[in-house]
Amino acid sequence: MSSMLQWMDAELRQLEDKSQLRSLTSASSLVDGFLSNQTQKLINLASNHYLGLDLQLSEETLKRLTEQAKAWGTQVGLGSTSSRLVVGSDPAFMEFEQVFAAFKGTESCLLFGSGFMANSGVIPALVGRHDVVFSDRLNHASIVDGINLSRAEHIRYRHRDLDQLEQQLKQVNPAKRKLIVTDTIFSMDGSLAPLKDLVTLKERYGAMLMVDEAHSGGVYGTNGEGLTHELGLTSQVDIQMGTFSKAYGCYGAYIAGDEVLRKYLINKARSFIYTTALPPLIVLAIHDNWLQAQRDSWRRHTLISQAAWFREQLKLAGFNIGESECQIVPLIVGANEITVALSQRLQQLGVAAVAIRPPTVPEGSARIRFSLTASITHTQLQLAVDHIKKAGAELGII
Ligand SMILES: Cc1ncc(COP(=O)(O)O)c(C=O)c1O
Repeated sequence: MSSMLQWMDAELRQLEDKSQLRSLTSASSLVDGFLSNQTQKLINLASNHYLGLDLQLSEETLKRLTEQAKAWGTQVGLGSTSSRLVVGSDPAFMEFEQVFAAFKGTESCLLFGSGFMANSGVIPALVGRHDVVFSDRLNHASIVDGINLSRAEHIRYRHRDLDQLEQQLKQVNPAKRKLIVTDTIFSMDGSLAPLKDLVTLKERYGAMLMVDEAHSGGVYGTNGEGLTHELGLTSQVDIQMGTFSKAYGCYGAYIAGDEVLRKYLINKARSFIYTTALPPLIVLAIHDNWLQAQRDSWRRHTLISQAAWFREQLKLAGFNIGESECQIVPLIVGANEITVALSQRLQQLGVAAVAIRPPTVPEGSARIRFSLTASITHTQLQLAVDHIKKAGAELGII
């Protein structure tokens, strides 16, 4: 074994000893609330397509998308051939960006390849080595990487701790450029950011505010516009980022805000400039799924009421679900080994639910992350709750 493979192997063994080794799982989400892993059909409490939108392009959809593209005289292949700044800006982009900005209530919108690319490219475009970023400790890894890439001073505040954030803001030279950045729904906890208070603080201390609506887009707001919109804060939040990879069951991401911001990012965000544009077919599919999400408002309502019922059942059974208030429901166990055992036992019983361990979550807080979708029937969910209680009791968690 070469020396490189030796140190890699040693590090992997260390992870295995701590029950932290990750591996790929082969599974497909089905439209009926199940997940198929080749050998089994499991109740799907592991996917992020919260609205349960069809994950496959039906022949009919594909035909419609193809016709739309042909009408523009553009290609419909999978490659978009170049960056959008070269020749990759198919009309599908501009058309969708305009209607989506109107939906969000912002002047403009700009599509990015993925949520990770948006966060890791936009933050370094906004701040540099002389600036400061204030970030909730539980923010997503793509935000953390964006901050690290920016080389700005990185100040983390305790999860949703506004007092600590205010103390930190006070201590920074008022002349410095400041950015507060937060998830709106925290992806491993299902807790909600105190957006109204963050707006107050950003105004008081002259900071910019960027929010990540990855998990709230499609779910919160009258038509799924997101948490910012639901709280009436659209004009006070400077930068809204969101994804099409979760509730909208597709791929890609956006930044919504003022027109100047859009122009600025086209010129400064490296993950927008130096990358091949999303395939136009994907943009058409995003557009289509977004329209369907609005037509099927029952999906949002079903999701919200099922999630409230599910959280209540787990609490009544004595599980620790932390501060969850939405469709992401953690079952916090603590030790890695028991969490993995719980995930495996649930799989035996017919429930797909993923064990999340450090470093994704803080040490000692390993958990099962349940995520609900509108496709799951109440009967499936009831059965899942029974299985979770049974497995929890067997493993001494309740
Ligand atoms: C809060 C948050 N932001 C960003 C991302 C990245 O989005 P994407 O999966 O579209 O790259 C994720 C998901 O993984 C997320 O949970």
